[in-house]
Amino acid sequence: MSHTAIADLAGNPSHFPILDRWDFFNHAAVAPLPRVAADALRNYAAQMESAAYLDAGHYRSLEALRASAAALMNATPQEIAFVKNTAEGICTVANGLEWRRGQRIVTAGVEYPANIYPWMDIAARHGVELVMVPEETSADGRRRVPLERLLAEADHTDTRLVALSHVEFASGQRNDLAAVGALCRSRGRLFCVDAIQSLGAVPVDVRTMNIDFLSADGHKWLLAPEGAGLFYCRRELMPMLRPLSVGATSVINAGDYGNYDFTLKSDAARYECGALNVPGLLALKASIELLLAVGIEAVAARLRALTGALEAGLIEKGYRIVSPRGEAEWSGIVSFTSTKHDHKDLVRMLRREHRTEIALREGRLRCSPHFYNTPEQIARLLERLPGH
Ligand SMILES: Cc1ncc(COP(=O)(O)O)c(C=O)c1O
Repeated sequence: MSHTAIADLAGNPSHFPILDRWDFFNHAAVAPLPRVAADALRNYAAQMESAAYLDAGHYRSLEALRASAAALMNATPQEIAFVKNTAEGICTVANGLEWRRGQRIVTAGVEYPANIYPWMDIAARHGVELVMVPEETSADGRRRVPLERLLAEADHTDTRLVALSHVEFASGQRNDLAAVGALCRSRGRLFCVDAIQSLGAVPVDVRTMNIDFLSADGHKWLLAPEGAGLFYCRRELMPMLRPLSVGATSVINAGDYGNYDFTLKSDAARYECGALNVPGLLALKASIELLLAVGIEAVAARLRALTGALEAGLIEKGYRIVSPRGEAEWSGIVSFTSTKHDHKDLVRMLRREHRTEIALREGRLRCSPHFYNTPEQIARLLERLPGH
């Protein structure tokens, strides 16, 4: 894949049309589409309108997506399944494993609900204990789920599985997956990661981080439409993870319709039970290829610089930063609070008067730029925010 320089893409509305209309800093919610992804949707519509499946080759393209998605997280294509959202991948794990009364599931107390309710459901139905490690506030106001607490709970003899976001949606804390994964693997605990707030923004490596299962929809840092997501299952674990839903495409002789042979595929495609969200996945393919052409290390370095400038400017204006920002814990999310201004009014004022978009989450202001945003946009945001 050819290398694409950030300098050619950043601030360039012909690649990112949103730049002409909004200063958009809410990629941690639903991202705008880059032109390549919107083109993929337009091409799909035009092609399906005129020829249906006759000259399509869509499913071949989806195999290329499987390979790109695998490259993005250092998995193999055989370990990637397409899902309709993050929760579907997490539910595949929660419901596909056998549970015994008394086993424990460890998670953080501040996870997005997609990574809580599937486990609450298992706890209620199987007599499993759900342990939620709470967030703590340090003297300087930064909020974190403490790594030591997570490791101690993961280490507990009854713990079967740890379910954790790579990046927490409200604080922006990037959890130390390598540390949690290493402990899980050495103690025989399973490790399931919600990567929707990190995949496409910072490096994710399922091998070095010892991740067993990972799920992420495409609509945030992967710059894709909603409803087209990725699920990773470590190859060795497939025999113990029973597919939740089965259908025509779960089996080895998919296509030989009348010859019923319920032998599951040997790879992660066994977790896909039928027709896929082809248009959404084609757009996801275009966006992932764009991100890979830029390079995730370069994307991360750029995000570090943009969010660093934002953090410094906010502190100067008297805002309190909630996000931990150390070398191993920063992310594309900067959460902050004001002691003087009403948060809702600030979000509304930015949107209505300045066409500038940030979010309000869990009582905090949340700003999440992507690599194609510019330092000038960050400076404009800072100018528009009132001081203290
Ligand atoms: C950490 C996290 N997980 C998951 C999701 C989305 O879940 P789903 O793809 O199931 O809608 C979000 C945001 O919407 C999120 O912030």
